[in-house]
Amino acid sequence: MIRVGIVGASGYAGGELIRLLVGHEGVNITVLVSRTHAGKPVAQVYPGYYGYDLPHFQELSVAELADRCDLLFVAAPSGAAWPWIEDLISMNPEIKIIDIGSDLRLKDPLLYQEWYGYVHGAPELLCESVYGLTELYAEDISNARLVANPGCYPTATILAFAPLVRFGVVRMNSIIVNALSGVSGAGRTVGQGYHFPECNENMRAYGLLRHRHIPEIEQELTAIARIGGHDEAVNLSFTPHLVPLNRGILVTGYADFRDLGVSLETSGLTEVYESFYEGKKFVRILPPAEIPQTKAVAGSNYCDISVRVDERTGRVLVMSAIDNLVKGAAGQALQNMNLMFGEPDDKGLTSAPLWP
Ligand SMILES: NC(=O)c1ccc[n+]([C@@H]2O[C@H](COP(=O)([O-])OP(=O)(O)OC[C@H]3O[C@@H](n4cnc5c(N)ncnc54)[C@H](OP(=O)(O)O)[C@@H]3O)[C@@H](O)[C@H]2O)c1
Repeated sequence: MIRVGIVGASGYAGGELIRLLVGHEGVNITVLVSRTHAGKPVAQVYPGYYGYDLPHFQELSVAELADRCDLLFVAAPSGAAWPWIEDLISMNPEIKIIDIGSDLRLKDPLLYQEWYGYVHGAPELLCESVYGLTELYAEDISNARLVANPGCYPTATILAFAPLVRFGVVRMNSIIVNALSGVSGAGRTVGQGYHFPECNENMRAYGLLRHRHIPEIEQELTAIARIGGHDEAVNLSFTPHLVPLNRGILVTGYADFRDLGVSLETSGLTEVYESFYEGKKFVRILPPAEIPQTKAVAGSNYCDISVRVDERTGRVLVMSAIDNLVKGAAGQALQNMNLMFGEPDDKGLTSAPLWP
């Protein structure tokens, strides 16, 4: 049994991890950290866990995490993990860590200053960490000690655009993404704009031009383009919107086709996507007659993708849908944990989406 701890266990991403982990046969949850709820049973914070045999929430003790965990998930806000990860590793060099937050994601430490507004104090962690987009980096993840679990918008956006940039089909500086997210994407502790009367029956954009996920998406799509031999950096316009859903992210993206000297059709491009994601069971390439929707992936680890060639404008239209708390957070983290312990990546993740 893998002994697993969660820091940030009382938040939405941490709570979703508990939900998935209790259905995973190879795991023993040993430590659940929540500073606010230390000492309380989990069911007092998440009533759905009445009757489950889980440890009580406790304070953050790095020594205890080192002693009682083979793997630690960190589901805490940005900047909360890097200050003690090095201590944890020095106490237990064998421990594996998956950060669902953003402390291990960006390779250039200066980007933290620019986009997150703080100085990242442990840049060597960024050199070691592997970007945990399971479908693209399974082998590296299998050998990793530190995994940066991708953000929710980046997961949906990168999976949608990866084949296009890998094969150099689009102009790298022409990508435009509009993304919609349900309210759980903002976490459990949020401000006034997220209260029911303010976000129900309402839709609004936020994070205009400066959303923190932009450098992450650009970093990763640029890396994928380079693998394909295309040196141009990806430069992205990205606008997220808050919509009155509990869960779900829907990405609608566009880019200009490069002049390849051949005419592309939707059916042919769909086949390119199918072959790119062949064998990746959590990425479903929908046939041209279907359109991704959040309800079709709710509660599951799927990312549904659909692509169209717009011959009239010379642009591609690509859409993707995920559950932000599953493929966008806890589900992908579990996929990564499975790979890091030599298990099939879908272990504990096979339940079908909820409908309705
Ligand atoms: N929600 C999503 O859809 C989603 C998707 C992908 C990634 N993420 C990322 O996952 C992380 C957690 O998000 P969330 O939505 O679960 O947020 P949340 O609901 O607000 O929960 C945050 C958790 O972190 C703990 N925490 C806060 N400050 C901490 C600190 N300094 N040190 C240790 N623990 C701390 C909180 O508990 P205590 O204060 O009681 O300790 C709480 O359990 C964030 O980095 C977020 O960006 C979220």
